[in-house]
Amino acid sequence: MKIGILTSGGDAPGMNAAIRAVVKAAGNLGIEVYGIKHGFKGLLNEDLFLLDNSMIDSISEIGGTVLKTARCTDFMNEKKRQEVPAMLEKYDINSVIVIGGDGSLAGAEKLSQLGINVIGLPATIDNDMSFTDFSIGFDTTLNTVLDCIGKVKHTNASHDKTTIIEVMGRACGDLALYSALAGGGEIVSTPENILSDTEICNKLEVNINNGKKDNVIIITEKLYDLESLKAKIEKKLKLDIRTTVLGFVQRGGVPSAFDRVLSNKLGAAAVRLLASGNSGSAVGIKNNKVIEINLKDINKLKPVKKMEYELLEMLL
Ligand code: F6P
Repeated sequence: MKIGILTSGGDAPGMNAAIRAVVKAAGNLGIEVYGIKHGFKGLLNEDLFLLDNSMIDSISEIGGTVLKTARCTDFMNEKKRQEVPAMLEKYDINSVIVIGGDGSLAGAEKLSQLGINVIGLPATIDNDMSFTDFSIGFDTTLNTVLDCIGKVKHTNASHDKTTIIEVMGRACGDLALYSALAGGGEIVSTPENILSDTEICNKLEVNINNGKKDNVIIITEKLYDLESLKAKIEKKLKLDIRTTVLGFVQRGGVPSAFDRVLSNKLGAAAVRLLASGNSGSAVGIKNNKVIEINLKDINKLKPVKKMEYELLEMLL
């Protein structure tokens, strides 16, 4: 048995730690691991190589992914996909570990339908996959976001200013929610709990009238036109405010200890499952336990963050 491994979609800090964990855990069982480059593209282009211990030495502490990644729409083309099993057979590879977000795990399911043994690992800074409490990369990015917000707070406080800070997350508000819970902001708007422009203005006005003159408004990307939100607040409250889009700084950075440990747990679990004949599933973490879920079911659960949103209400 040989395993192929690929990282796909947006890179997330901790992907390298997961690659290392897979190579180490497989090596201990005498299984060779091939690195597939640029995500699913590498499967279509036969771009793969044998990974040895020297190549994975010390990669856990590096952000991004040494295997490189891509968002590969070509893989959704059934005809192109059909060629993959024969290509993998040439290398004696019958199993593939896919590390990525929900789109990548949908690709993993397609791969599994071709008769290849597949296990998926959740890795995305967005934390938008409800089958797992945490995805690889989220904790590191959350800490990056908090660090950046902290820096903005220093200048806000010095000038009695308010700044709207836009964070990533796609359709998931976890980066905004958890950074606010960690003390990063006074007002927060997420896809799960969107505030209208008027609500934001009103909350800010209350804070200012209560003597809190420097405020951070954390918003998830794609919810507002930032410039028009800023203009509306400035007009209504007659003050100048600032905007900061954190952007791709959120995707990089040295993976946190939490992400590295999570990557190790999930990477080793994926190898164990493949070695014992399991396939067509993803591994995640629920209540601090490693769980396995059918790839078909990963999007069935709706994320519930009731406790966190209630806590936010009490703290802001
Ligand atoms: O899914 C991770 C993520 O960083 C999102 O937060 C963001 O919306 C998106 O990827 C950006 O995608 P791209 O790298 O394709 O610009």
